[in-house]
Order: sequence, then C-alpha cells, then structure tokens
Amino acid sequence: MKNTLRKLLSVFLCVLLVFGISGTASFADGEEELPAKGETEPFRISVSMNGDAGTQRGFCWFTKTQTDTKIEVLDESGASAGKVTFTDSQEWEGNYYHKATVSELEAGGSYTFRVGNGTEWSEYGSFVTDDGDDSFSFIEIADVQATPLENFQKAALTVSAAFETLPEAEFVVNCGDFTNDSTNEEWDRFDCAFAELNKNCTMVPVAGNHDGLGVENWFNNMFNLDTSESVQTKDGVNYSFDYGNAHIAVLNTNDMFCMTLTQMKWLKNDLDSTDKDWKICFMHKSPYTLGKDGKWPDALYLGESLARVFDMCDVDLVVSGHDHMYLRTKPLKNNMLNDDGTTYILSGTAGTKRYEVREFLAGMFLNTDFIDALTVQKGGYGNYWNGEDWNSTSEENIGGCFNTVQIKGGTLTFNSYIRNDETGEVKNIDTYSVTKETGKNKATFSGDNTTSAFEYYLGLIPSFICLAIYTFGSWLPRFLLDLPYILYVYITQDTF
Ligand SMILES: [Fe+2]
Repeated sequence: MKNTLRKLLSVFLCVLLVFGISGTASFADGEEELPAKGETEPFRISVSMNGDAGTQRGFCWFTKTQTDTKIEVLDESGASAGKVTFTDSQEWEGNYYHKATVSELEAGGSYTFRVGNGTEWSEYGSFVTDDGDDSFSFIEIADVQATPLENFQKAALTVSAAFETLPEAEFVVNCGDFTNDSTNEEWDRFDCAFAELNKNCTMVPVAGNHDGLGVENWFNNMFNLDTSESVQTKDGVNYSFDYGNAHIAVLNTNDMFCMTLTQMKWLKNDLDSTDKDWKICFMHKSPYTLGKDGKWPDALYLGESLARVFDMCDVDLVVSGHDHMYLRTKPLKNNMLNDDGTTYILSGTAGTKRYEVREFLAGMFLNTDFIDALTVQKGGYGNYWNGEDWNSTSEENIGGCFNTVQIKGGTLTFNSYIRNDETGEVKNIDTYSVTKETGKNKATFSGDNTTSAFEYYLGLIPSFICLAIYTFGSWLPRFLLDLPYILYVYITQDTF
C-alpha cells in the first residue's frame, strides 16, 4: 500500500512539475519575472531529514512579512498526526523564515502536510517515513548552481526524470550549490522551479560553497536540520541519521576552507557510534576529481586527511559534487587500491554548468588508476574516458545528471543517468553494485559528540596548522611541478 501510494505521489509530482514549468515559461522571457507573492503566503517550503528518519521531519518555509507559524500534518486516514514543535521564526535577508519540527510520527507512514499562519495555507505537500527495514532507495543530485530561471527549470526536469526512473525513492540528497550567487532572487527562482519537488519528498541537503558565498547562515536558515551535533552552523551544517540498515553522515566542506580537525573528530565518533550495515557519507567538495577545482589544496587535503577517517571507519560510499562531471573511483584505502576500501563518487551536475577534464591533473593530482568510471557532460572535451582516450565524445552525454541508490540488505546498487538536453532521453551512464556480509559492524563509541563554541574555536589553530602542512608539503610541490602544463593548457585551451 505504501509503495503504491509512493508511486502515485511520484506520478502526481511529475505531472505537477511539468505543468508548473510550462506555467512559469510564460513569464520567463527576458529578466525572469516570478509570480507575485502575498505578504503572508508561504514559499520556499521544504521538508528535510531531521533526527529520527522513522518518526521525525523538519519543515522550513518563508513569508514576506512576519506572521504566525502553523503546520498541519495528516496521516493516510486524514487524521492529524505528530507532535509539532515550532523551532524558530526570524527575519532573514528581507523575508521571514519559519521552522517547525514534527515528531512522534509512525515509522513507514505516508503523510501530507501544509504550512501557513492558520488562516492562509500552502497547498498540501507529502512525505514518507522510514519503515526501518533493510530495503530502501533514494535519489542524489548535485550542483544545480543556476542563475536564470530557465536553467533552474532545466535542472528541475532532470530531477523529474529521476523520479520517473525511481518512483519509489524515499528521499532526495542534494549535494550542494543550490544556486550560483546565493541571492534572494536566485533562491526564489530555485523555489519557482523546484517547489513541487521540494515539498513532496524529504530532502537531505548538503552545504555547497555557493550556498551563502561568504554570507553566514544562508544554508542553515533555508532548511530545518538537526544541528544538535553540528560543529558550527554559519557556513553549513554537518549532521547524520539512520535510514533502514544504513547510517548516513552529511559533511560540511565549507568548514574553514574545507574541513576542520573538529569536524573530522565528530565524523570519527559518529561513524563509530553505529552498527548499521552500510556507512555512507555525503559532502560537497570532491577529493578525487579531474575538474577545475582538483588543482587546489582542498581537494588534495580531503583525499589525504579526511579520507583517513573513512578508512578507519570502513565507510562504503562517499558521494560529493562541486566539479560538475561524473567520476567513480575503484575502492580505495590509505590512498591505494583496496577491494575492502571506500568507493568515491563525484556526482555529475544536475544543472547546465558543466566542466571539462583538466588533463594536467591526471597523474600529478589524481592517480588515474583509481578511476573506474568517468563521464564528462560537456561537449568536445574528453567526453568519455576509457583509460586510453581522453577525447572520445558522445553527444548523448550532454545533459543533466542524476543518480539513484538502491539498498536491499547486503547489496547496494548505484546508478548514474544523464537526461539529454535536446531529446529528454534518459541514458544510464554507469552502474556500480557491491554486496557485503551484513551484521558485521559494531558500535564502539557512545559518548557525547557535541562541540562547544570554545572547543570549536580552540580547534581552529591545530586545524589551520594541519591544513598548512598539507598545503606547503604536499600540494605546493605538485602545483609548481605541474605549473608549466597548467599554463600551457591555459594559453592553448583557455581553461585553468
Ligand atoms: Fe561547488
């Protein structure tokens, strides 16, 4: 019954999205004019993972002027459900955000909800809760990173195609960079294109470097997340949750350039506190990449420092974004090939800003033996690499990327797809499947994993020293050795 309802909701969602997009097209000529909002009309509505995935969700929405914060959650029979806690409502960048947390829901339930002030309400949205069994699936996307409404709409079509491909998806992970410049105008265009998607499926948002762009609190104010263990919330939020037989940790790679020792300590404790069969991490910046950001110290630092935590805690899968191409590594441990290691996936962009391969990274910054699959979404730039030829190009690969993850007991299957820009055809570009023995993980940490402000700021000093050692000891020599090639590529191809 639950799966049938989910499929019906997915079809309903796709229909709504298609009509929503065609409806907005009429006002999308020239500079985008979005529909006028009422003073107390809810917008930017999202339902996000927040704490216990079986019984609790976080809701966030905005209004133009200050008004009451109300939410109504209904179960499948139409009866009021859950215990509501109104978390926060404050002015933010000219609007007012509202947050409510709903707990005491039934595991494995299907719910509808609406938000408002008790007089003016939104349309109903929907979500499902985790039933706790060891079979579930979800969608992952990254880097919508658009400015014009048209590009947000194209990205929304990609996500709509993801729901058509996997109607039973129980949540969507967005690996960050929701917008390009993180302005009110861009977030409103994102909302215009993604409104139906965002309020009809639980989201797992990941902070990207464009989500705020130096203006503090944007990310945390856009969603209602469990921040109880986050090492800081100004540049993003790190959090974790269990879903089915998996433990999922979300990292914030805006934490002092990319990653503090404090967050690494949180991650180590967090991953040691679970006995779930699967350990999966999401973060924005990618440690293993051939995109333009692979030449900077943060990518190398994540691959050489943070990866040690993944190694120690036997993480199965790390998925990130940031470099706008699809790349999957073979399993790695201690920065070497190891069948028992961690698989790293750089998610292709769901948006329209696509990066070419920087060949100068191959060998110097990334051991190409690590690469198991690579698909670049930009035409004419080494569109696909088979281990020998950087320059074979397929126009079928020019489009928005989405990924699906399906877990059934001890088997995890990851599929990556591209929705062709021109034809709308969906092509499967990679399938990765791994099977493991379940029941082997043991929880070895049960202490307090919260971070005080004092502890965080005190930890910045050793974090900075550690990053500096990596930067000057590991990154700079490679960068200087590669500099002639980098400059040659810059002069001949105008890429850097
Ligand atoms: Fe990014």
